[in-house]
Amino acid sequence: MTQEPANHRMDRRELLTLGALGAGTVLAASWADPALAAPQNGPARGSTPLTIEAKPLPQKVFNTEAAGISRRTHEEHYELYKGYVSKVNEIRAKLTAMGVPDPSRANQTFSEIRELKVEYTFALGGVKNHELYFGHIGGKGGAPTGPIAEAINAAFGSFDNWKADLKATGLAARGWVWLAHDYTDGSLFNYIGDAQNTFPVWNATPILALDVYEHAYFIDFGRNRGKYIDAFFNVIDWDAVNANLKMAQAVAQAVR
Ligand SMILES: [Fe+2]
Repeated sequence: MTQEPANHRMDRRELLTLGALGAGTVLAASWADPALAAPQNGPARGSTPLTIEAKPLPQKVFNTEAAGISRRTHEEHYELYKGYVSKVNEIRAKLTAMGVPDPSRANQTFSEIRELKVEYTFALGGVKNHELYFGHIGGKGGAPTGPIAEAINAAFGSFDNWKADLKATGLAARGWVWLAHDYTDGSLFNYIGDAQNTFPVWNATPILALDVYEHAYFIDFGRNRGKYIDAFFNVIDWDAVNANLKMAQAVAQAVR
């Protein structure tokens, strides 16, 4: 197997950590370096690893109980996350077995490669979205501090404006809201998501995720999603969001 230069390994690992909306940055890195784009594992799977492993649920997430998001919700939610990990591995195994796809069998209405590649984005999105979400809940919530506070004020005018936009977007979404940093222009935007794989935007790296699927709140709040979103604001770990912002800005700096 071709060894990547150390600096390339670090760049790619950082990019892969950034989450679903950052998928475009991974592609960009592959295009920039032929060694990364080489089909070392079979064309249908590209150079993705054969398997991934579920990350442990951060214990800090259980700090949300006082805000109304229960331990049971997190435990059930974590099982869903592990299901996405399992499906990523299952699909990668099928893509590996497929080897070099036969274009004559591909079809946009239904074909094996279509189903595998569409649902792969759903499964991998489910992994990355949840790792981001679990990584920044269980904090003290309230107003942000540090660079993210300045960035939100600059982009939205005030923290209250950002909260109002995130809540409205969350009530209008069918799955997710992502606060993302677009490295092409440095903008911040609250993107709407209807599923694990819609609607990512290339080069926009999510730094905060709000899961608004019913499984994230129905046990604790019934149909009252707005109350759940209010609770979410009370449990954001802004230190974690600042770390995500720092990484996104590092990517922006690296590609400049
Ligand atoms: Fe979820």
